[in-house]
Amino acid sequence: MKNIRNFCIIAHIDHGKSTLADRLLEWTGTVDKRQMQDQVLDDMDLERERGITIKSHAIQMKYTYEGETYTLNLIDTPGHVDFSYEVSRSIAACEGALLVVDASQGVEAQTISNLYLAIGNDLTIIPVLNKIDLPGAMPEEVSDQIVELIGCKREDIIRASAKEGIGIDEILKAVVMRIPPPQGDPNGKLQALIFDSVFNSFRGIEVIFRVKNGTIRKGDKVKFVATGKEYIADEVGILKLQKEPREQIECGDVGYLISGIKQAREVKVGDTITHVQNPAEAIKGFEDVKPMVFAGIYPVETSEFEDLREAMEKLQLNDASLVWEPETSAALGFGFRCGFLGMLHLEIVQERLEREFDMTVITTVPSVQFKVYTTKGEEKLIQAPSDMPEPVHIEYIEEPFVKVQIITKAEYVGPIITLCMEKRGVIKNQVYLTTDRVELSFEMPLAEIVFDFFDKLKTISRGYASLDYELAGWRESDMVKLDIMLNGDTVDALSAIVHRKKAYEWGKRLCEKLKDLLPRQQFEIAIQAAIGQKVIARETVKALRKNVLAKCYGGDITRKRKLLEKQKKGKKRMRQIGTVEVPQEAFMAVLKLE
Ligand code: GTP
Repeated sequence: MKNIRNFCIIAHIDHGKSTLADRLLEWTGTVDKRQMQDQVLDDMDLERERGITIKSHAIQMKYTYEGETYTLNLIDTPGHVDFSYEVSRSIAACEGALLVVDASQGVEAQTISNLYLAIGNDLTIIPVLNKIDLPGAMPEEVSDQIVELIGCKREDIIRASAKEGIGIDEILKAVVMRIPPPQGDPNGKLQALIFDSVFNSFRGIEVIFRVKNGTIRKGDKVKFVATGKEYIADEVGILKLQKEPREQIECGDVGYLISGIKQAREVKVGDTITHVQNPAEAIKGFEDVKPMVFAGIYPVETSEFEDLREAMEKLQLNDASLVWEPETSAALGFGFRCGFLGMLHLEIVQERLEREFDMTVITTVPSVQFKVYTTKGEEKLIQAPSDMPEPVHIEYIEEPFVKVQIITKAEYVGPIITLCMEKRGVIKNQVYLTTDRVELSFEMPLAEIVFDFFDKLKTISRGYASLDYELAGWRESDMVKLDIMLNGDTVDALSAIVHRKKAYEWGKRLCEKLKDLLPRQQFEIAIQAAIGQKVIARETVKALRKNVLAKCYGGDITRKRKLLEKQKKGKKRMRQIGTVEVPQEAFMAVLKLE
């Protein structure tokens, strides 16, 4: 145990986290040059393109220093607030973190929340000044910033270039010398923290864990504390570029477990693995991750509903946080109501459906859940605006509120408070952590935070704000359903639940926005917003002056058909609703009103 080091890398996007990880793997001989595909850790296509690590992974290296061989486990962490719980569990599996800062860019606070999480978990922070090879590098200034940020000594900062391979050995030495070995009782009851899982279509789910106490051996009868499920540890091992089976994984180490688990849902990040005989308690901090955002997913071609179902089932096998059930929409036909961790998760699911399963889908207006109390004394949990009872049947509505914590620099406090108040937030507390670092606490409706709040916050604080929130409970709110009618027909998939005070303004701007988004057609389209029976706004999309077929003189049917085909190709993610064609963007318009 004294020769194990568990650590992660914290970095602002593009500061060189993946490149540095590659160099560490290369330097320690974990992968050789031939195997070294750039950025080996980002193995999902999508991750590579988006430049974010969606799922955390772990990889083990061996490093020899002064005749002693050390086991270094590098644990990767995702960097977006949608996945903050996964990040917190990855960090809980480490004793140290490399803080990588681009010497030409300086400290940028986008991942500052991860840094604070790491400090909050008592991790040892090793500051690394990366990209010192760049002509624009400003090592002195950026070192000052780092010292101010984490309060380290200047000489603790390692100067490196992940690209040129400078400073790599020094970083590895620092990992060994500065990060403490794991603590725990090797002879105690087994307690292993699950911080990730990987889907393997042949072997079932691979569970990635960090042993906190005790030892896990091949063949052990184990139990997952939160789910209560029992398994046989068919295979345990360590993670290098490939999995390497072992007889046992010791206290303090990181490993994987295969036990024929087919459904990702059975494996919950944050859960504890223990022995069936002589079980231990759960490791603190487990949370059942709940979906926050709900939206409908529909095939563009109604005939593809069954294919979509199959794709959703497959997707769910390796995405435990995705939940769904069938739903029908008057406008869109058969589809699914899905629950997501946040908007990024929604986008990822949509993109994976399109890329991995070749589906073209329409996602409807996202919403949080609401509790509706009816005049009959019933309590209804509503996930879709279309499920909302008629206003006359509603006694009152409750919406979920969250406690929000924002850490930022003093200069951004004013704009952030303004933003939060626009979002119906109430400030609860304001604390100066240092002369320049402020912690703000708010209570705010979840509906105001899940959609674009994080992006807005980043913009107004130029990245110097971290965001964290947790559910605070249900509060009564004056919510109304805002319906959209196209040529007189209500399009259920375009309805949204909004606060009454905002409804008129929203209705007006939504109609304007839809006017821009709906392509002109052969006839006029009336766009109306209504609350109940009452129309509150109207816009008109004028008819096209020329139609494509007008070009065809005479009755040349093949030419007509060709033209129509051509039009159809340009139709991606359009949905025919009644007589009107509605593009995907229209369903998201309600989120882009401010
Ligand atoms: P994300 O995966 O998007 O979060 O970014 P990252 O932090 O992993 O950064 P990545 O390793 O992808 O590096 C971003 C860019 O910086 C790439 O083009 C790298 O080649 C480049 N880069 C990384 N390290 C260095 C360095 O030490 N010097 C120079 N000049 N470029 C570097």
